[in-house]
Amino acid sequence: MSKRLLSGVKPSGRPHVGNYLGAMRQFVDLATTHESYVFIADYHALNTLQDPVALRSNILDLVLDYLAIGLDPTKVTLFKQSDVPEHTELCWIFNTITTMPYLMRAHAFKDAEAKNKDLNVGTFDYPMLMAADILLYSPDLIPVGADQKQHVEFARDTAEKFNRIYGDTFKLPEAYIPTDVATIPGTDGQKMSKSYGNTIPLFGTDEEIRKAGMGIITDSTGTTDPKDPDVCNVFALHKYFSTDTLIDLDARYRAGTIGYKESKEILVDNLIRFVTPLRERRASLAENMTTVKDILREGGIKARAVASVKMKAVRERVGVTV
Ligand code: ADP
Ligand code: TRP
Repeated sequence: MSKRLLSGVKPSGRPHVGNYLGAMRQFVDLATTHESYVFIADYHALNTLQDPVALRSNILDLVLDYLAIGLDPTKVTLFKQSDVPEHTELCWIFNTITTMPYLMRAHAFKDAEAKNKDLNVGTFDYPMLMAADILLYSPDLIPVGADQKQHVEFARDTAEKFNRIYGDTFKLPEAYIPTDVATIPGTDGQKMSKSYGNTIPLFGTDEEIRKAGMGIITDSTGTTDPKDPDVCNVFALHKYFSTDTLIDLDARYRAGTIGYKESKEILVDNLIRFVTPLRERRASLAENMTTVKDILREGGIKARAVASVKMKAVRERVGVTV
């Protein structure tokens, strides 16, 4: 039997190039060799997005994004978290075996707490819902960006704890984080993230991509001075989008025969060339939203068939089945 892949993305805004390279593209590439479950973490998104109109459209947008990048719904089970109530049910059971001091160690919680004193319980409990997302499916591979490593470790600890208390039930999960795409830098050189305002939108218009690309922060080295490509925020993205000419660009940086402006223009052109066919596919898929909703619904049914078997075993283990 082929190995099983599982991962999710929150419908909390438009996906950016970092989401694509660090997570979404892996799902497409690995789907050919894995039995894949990819879901939209809509209950996770509720922690920060309490606007039903926006949430609904983000969910459908994200399905379109996945289909447009080449995720094949006949090979991949594509679903949304809220269609499989076993996720929240198992989350509750995990809440009962997890301590507050343990959850307080989460980086995401500490960051959120530092910014917002009125933090909701959902944000505090984020890792337990994510542990349930993962452990219901016993995945072999969980492709995520480096920022999610700790969350997967929490899921592993939770599986170990449950197994210790109730007997062997869950497979211990491990994150799959390819080093070359673990942390894609944004336009300011920090990790590209919706929360830092440094993103290049994956499905942006030409103008949006150009604005983001030309806004990449560079140092003050003059146009004709030699430059170190290894410390340049533009070059960091050439590594993904200008692979055909990377050796040449590297040489021109070192020789001082390319300025940052020209380098950015080349990058923007390559980004646009890359995304154009994806945008076209997305637009044509968007003409038939009924099909898109059907894909999601059928994915939910398939996912639930797997999740309910595990949940039945959990109910028996903890003693609520009489
Ligand atoms: P954001 O940080 O922009 O809010 P999400 O938390 O929605 O992104 O991340 C969705 C997926 O994309 C996760 O697997 C995450 O690890 C991955 N990801 C996000 N940003 C990056 C990045 N800059 N580099 C690599 N992977 C990333
Ligand atoms: N926390 C992940 C993120 O912010 C999304 C997510 C939720 C996820 N549940 C998951 C990823 C389970 C992998 C597996 O991107």
